[in-house]
Amino acid sequence: MNVKIIDSAEEIAKIVSDRIISLVKEKPDCILGLATGSTPLQTYQKVIEKAKKQNVSFLKVRTFNLDEYLDNPIKEQSYRYFMDENLFDKIDIKKENTHFPPFENPAAYDEEILSCGGIDLQILGIGRDGHIAFNEPGTPFDSMTHIASLDEKTIKDNSRFFESIDQVPKKAVTMGLATIMKAKEIILIATGKNKAEAIYKMTQGLDTKTPASILNKHNNTTVYIDNDIRKEIESWKQ
Ligand code: F6R
Repeated sequence: MNVKIIDSAEEIAKIVSDRIISLVKEKPDCILGLATGSTPLQTYQKVIEKAKKQNVSFLKVRTFNLDEYLDNPIKEQSYRYFMDENLFDKIDIKKENTHFPPFENPAAYDEEILSCGGIDLQILGIGRDGHIAFNEPGTPFDSMTHIASLDEKTIKDNSRFFESIDQVPKKAVTMGLATIMKAKEIILIATGKNKAEAIYKMTQGLDTKTPASILNKHNNTTVYIDNDIRKEIESWKQ
């Protein structure tokens, strides 16, 4: 796991969008693993701009998203909706090539990913409690795609997208930690000082209390953090 400190969230988005675009150019039928949330938004915006400018086609690209809410009454809050709005509807990807984990038989997702040849590049954000996808603290490192319960901290964080905290779904279907670890390349993005504690803990070695720490065992993972996180961690040492 390689940690890189970059000046700003904007710079990180430039670097990560460049990596996505260069992969699609090198391998037009590549498999991308994608995340939702605030973190990858700027990256997706830049992917859209660069795909247009550089005439890069996503026609043969297949995507597998990390997770989807269960029992979500508000369509506009679904991760499918988020991805359509913020990426898929703005590039030439075929909708049938974009996948979300199924509610019934979640384990079939792992088989589907495998049968496509595996994820070439997985994009990740991180929760304040160290979760990746919806693998909350305590999730076994060998977990495959499964139904997960959201922690109180995550429900509270995600309530910013809803009118009230009661609307936030309590469960989701999520890739497991072992699913994520099978990706050939992983990029985790973390920006803003409220992610400092999670980043600090994940770099302290393997611990199921910090699910993202499993990435210490992956041989092609880059973690991009911004200066706000660096400054916050340094301030604790003074
Ligand atoms: C989203 C996902 C989550 C988020 C994490 C950070 O698909 O899997 O793990 O990456 O909760 O969310 P933001 O980016 O909104 O801070």
